[in-house]
Amino acid sequence: KNIAIIMGGYSSEYKISLTSGNVVFNNLDTTKFTGYCIHIFKEKWVYVDENKNEFAIDRNDFSVTVDGKKIVFDAVFNAIHGTPGEDGLMQAYFELLEIPQTSCEYYQAALTFNKRDLLSVLKPYGIKSATSYYLNLGDEINQDEIINTVGLPCFVKPNKSGSSFGISKVKTQDELLYAIANAYKEDDEIIIESFLDGTEVSVGVINYKGEIIVLPITEIVSENDFFDYEAKYLGKSQEITPARIPEDVAEKVRTVAKKAYTILKMKGFSRSEFILVNGEPFMLEMNTIPGLTTESLIPQQAREAGISLQDLFTNAIELALN
Ligand code: DAL
Ligand code: MG
Repeated sequence: KNIAIIMGGYSSEYKISLTSGNVVFNNLDTTKFTGYCIHIFKEKWVYVDENKNEFAIDRNDFSVTVDGKKIVFDAVFNAIHGTPGEDGLMQAYFELLEIPQTSCEYYQAALTFNKRDLLSVLKPYGIKSATSYYLNLGDEINQDEIINTVGLPCFVKPNKSGSSFGISKVKTQDELLYAIANAYKEDDEIIIESFLDGTEVSVGVINYKGEIIVLPITEIVSENDFFDYEAKYLGKSQEITPARIPEDVAEKVRTVAKKAYTILKMKGFSRSEFILVNGEPFMLEMNTIPGLTTESLIPQQAREAGISLQDLFTNAIELALN
C-alpha cells in the first residue's frame, strides 16, 4: 500500500511537523507499506524522494508522477501540525477525494483546533476549563475588563495555534498589551485565560485496534514559567510518565479525556492537556495531530503502554484503510 506522509504546513510549527513526519517515515512497517514523504508548503506541494528530488503533486487527485509513472496513494498519514493539517482543511480535501486518512474528520479537526469553540462545546457536558475572555483582531482592548474577568496572572494565547507559539503568561497589567500583540502574530483571535494553579498533565486517547484506549498520563514539570516552546522541545522540562498523581485523580483524567473523545466522535489520534486543581481536571486544549518527535508526549506514552512506534503507526494506517 502506498502511504503519503504529509508534513510541513503553513504555520510556525512546520519544522516540528517535518520532524514528526520523518519519525513516521522511519518507523513505517515496510513489509506492509511504502512511505512517500510529501511536503505541503504554501509555495509547493511536493513528493521528496530519498535523494531530495522533488516531484510536484497533482492537486486534482493528490497523485504524483515519477519517471513517467503515476503514483496514487491508498492512504494519507497526516503529520502536519497547525494549518492546513490540523484545522480541517486537508481533512476536507481528502474526504472529497475519498482518500483514507489517519486523522479525525474535517469538522472535528476544525472544532478542536479552535480552543474557544472546543471548550465551549465541552462545557455543557461538565468538562471544566479556565475562566476566559476572547478578543478578535480590531476589537477594543478594555484592559480593566479583561483583568476583572480573568484576574492575574493570566495566560494570553492565540486561539488557533500550537506548540505554545504566541503564548505569554501575564503577571502584571503592564505586560498585557505586549502579550496581546504577540498572540496576534499567530492568529486573529485571542483567548485570555485565568491562571490555574495546579499540576499540568497530558494524555493521549487513540483508537487502538478498534477500541478507544487512554494512554498513560504524562505529568509536565516545566523549568520555565509554563510548558512553552523551549520547555517542549529544548529540554527545559521534565515529562514524567506515568504521572505521579493519586489513582483516583488519574481515573478522573482518563474518564474526562475519553469522554471528550467520545462526545466529539473523534477518530485517530488525540492528546488532551489538563491542569489539575485540587484533583479536578480543567481542560486546556485537545490536539488532533499531536507531535511525534522523540521529545513529544504521544511517543513517550505509547512506549510506556508497551506500544512501539511501528505498532502505533501501523494501527493508525490500518484503521484509516478499514
Ligand atoms: N502542537 C504540537 C506539535 C503537539 O501538540 O504536540
Ligand atoms: Mg497544542
